[in-house]
Amino acid sequence: MLSTNNKIRMVSWDFVGYRAGEGRYGIHDYPAMLHYMLVRKLIEKFGRHKKVLLDPFCGSGVSLCEAIRAGKKAMGIDINPLALLIAKVRSSNLDIHVPTDTIIKEAMTSNPEVPKVKNMEYWFKPQVIEALGKLRRAIQNGFL
Ligand SMILES: C[S@@+](CC[C@H](N)C(=O)[O-])C[C@H]1O[C@@H](n2cnc3c(N)ncnc32)[C@H](O)[C@@H]1O
Repeated sequence: MLSTNNKIRMVSWDFVGYRAGEGRYGIHDYPAMLHYMLVRKLIEKFGRHKKVLLDPFCGSGVSLCEAIRAGKKAMGIDINPLALLIAKVRSSNLDIHVPTDTIIKEAMTSNPEVPKVKNMEYWFKPQVIEALGKLRRAIQNGFL
């Protein structure tokens, strides 16, 4: 434990070497995302014997994923529908029947089909909008 300017800092909660956007947490840069290692540690410390985690401000679902990972049921609520969509995707095991290579190849050669969505440029970077538009086109062409 370090003490700096009247603040106590627990070095073991710094999670040096753990990127917040690793694995399924990298699918979207939702602005208000908890670090998964923080949630993991809190669940281990306070929720070891609990069966259900309810996060009424679940955001993009880090707490939900970590609860599922720890073998618990998880329920989430959020006012932002985009957060709920990301949380749903993040916490689902995808059942993809077409080999990933085929989908990617089809998507990369597609013209992007980008729907008009309010504030899209705020939530997604231009290259992400283009890549999602290409995937959308591949899906419309029957590749998923
Ligand atoms: C810090 S984030 C939550 C992070 C989340 N617990 C996680 O594990 O990643 C806070 C969330 O609260 C949501 N929020 C704010 N006001 C709300 C309300 N009145 N009802 C439900 N959700 C709300 C926001 O949309 C935002 O996604």
